[in-house]
Amino acid sequence: MASKLNIIILAAGLGKRMHSSLPKVLHTLAGKPLLSHVLDLAKKLSPDQICVVIGHGGERVKEIINDASLTWVTQAPQLGTGHAVLQAQPYLDQQGLTLILYGDVPLVSLASLEQLIQSTQNDVCGILTAVVDDPTGYGRIIRDQNTGSIKGIVEQKDADTSQQSIREINTGIMAIPNEYLHSWLPKLENNNAQQEYYLTDIVKMAVDQNVTVVSSQALHNWEILGVNSRLQLAELERIYQLSYANKLLEKGVMLFDPSRIDIRGELRCGADVEIDVNCIFEGTVILGDHVKVKANCILKDVTVSDKTTILPFSHIENAKIGTNCRIGPYSRIRPETQLIDNVHIGNFVEVKKSRIASGSKVNHLSYIGDTTIGENVNIGAGTITCNYDGAYKHQTIIEDNVFIGSDTQLVAPVKVSVGSTIGAGSTITKDTPENELTLSRSKQISVSGWKRPSKT
Ligand code: UD1
Ligand code: CA
Repeated sequence: MASKLNIIILAAGLGKRMHSSLPKVLHTLAGKPLLSHVLDLAKKLSPDQICVVIGHGGERVKEIINDASLTWVTQAPQLGTGHAVLQAQPYLDQQGLTLILYGDVPLVSLASLEQLIQSTQNDVCGILTAVVDDPTGYGRIIRDQNTGSIKGIVEQKDADTSQQSIREINTGIMAIPNEYLHSWLPKLENNNAQQEYYLTDIVKMAVDQNVTVVSSQALHNWEILGVNSRLQLAELERIYQLSYANKLLEKGVMLFDPSRIDIRGELRCGADVEIDVNCIFEGTVILGDHVKVKANCILKDVTVSDKTTILPFSHIENAKIGTNCRIGPYSRIRPETQLIDNVHIGNFVEVKKSRIASGSKVNHLSYIGDTTIGENVNIGAGTITCNYDGAYKHQTIIEDNVFIGSDTQLVAPVKVSVGSTIGAGSTITKDTPENELTLSRSKQISVSGWKRPSKT
């Protein structure tokens, strides 16, 4: 391996076909900007430097990516891939190797790049190629008919008919020894169909100087796909998701349909996890052994312990859920919530910034916010913690073994002491005594002989 590794990521292009005001490389795949996918991959190679060439919307790109470890280089105007790399030349080491990546080619694998770098031992140039069914639009690899060695790359627009029939294409990803780049980049010219400075012309220069150019094939052809339109972005999203899903299946996670799951971040699963269709996982989600996530759930930055079941249509964000809990259907669990073990949260229940201890149940139509609930508490249907006075949030404390009757309002700050029972329909504004029944309710009366009004 070369002593120094520099990486240049080309990201100056306009992305006209996206029809968007957002720079192309900021469009997201699996919830993350395209450029971030490439950056994360680049960092795995532990390079000495990463240079990102920006142009259209460059300031926005810098601001959103917000990474001080990067060297940003502006290319204006954009006169081609060779011109783009030329802008980064002053930042390259004298010796070592430069790997050129595209900010809009997000699915390349680490293995393919490592293989490409391996192939460039001993001062040869390496290009990542692919053999595709439809080479339209790509630069074609021209080989010597006798030796098979690479002689050049011809762009679609410059290719004659016989060259256009070549199915071996340039992915655009290359690894070039720095001393060659330093000597060749300033010599690039733009006398071609597009009047652009083609980076691919360095292959010809290499051949002229008897520098060997080797090709290395990407492990999967989909790795080299670029994003030029929203249609392609959508296609790449599906490829990414299916490949993630297949990896989960291989590790023993039961996905009911691998084509109907979306992972926008990282999903770590224990043994015998089951995930039904149309679930979305964002951020970091960790599921313990025997966890079941039923259809149509959204989980973001959630940890779920063993044997818990999340029933359909539940939405859980930034929460920690214990073992053997049952959540949903139709539950909403909001940030900073912690459920200990054997907790049940039922339909149309919203829980925010609360801790609910073992064995407690909130089964129907409730709002629990800024609340601490002890063990073995039963919260009746329609109970509301009134945590907000219009200016401040206040805490509700519900101690162990409390039973709260249905349709109760707990006006915070308030404490319902251990063993309390609250009668249904109460509005509780003061702390309640331990182990007693508390209720606030007007007496029920019946008016005898009362008649409903009727039309005459
Ligand atoms: C390029 C290659 C072609 C290859 C194809 C793979 C050249 C001359 N051609 O063609 O052989 O098959 O990629 O997709 O290299 N960019 C800049 N500044 C520029 C021009 C481009 O930063 O002035 C960036 C773009 O943002 C993009 C990448 O370089 O990320 C490739 O540019 P693009 O215009 O898509 O190159 P192609 O013409 O498709
Ligand atoms: Ca392209």
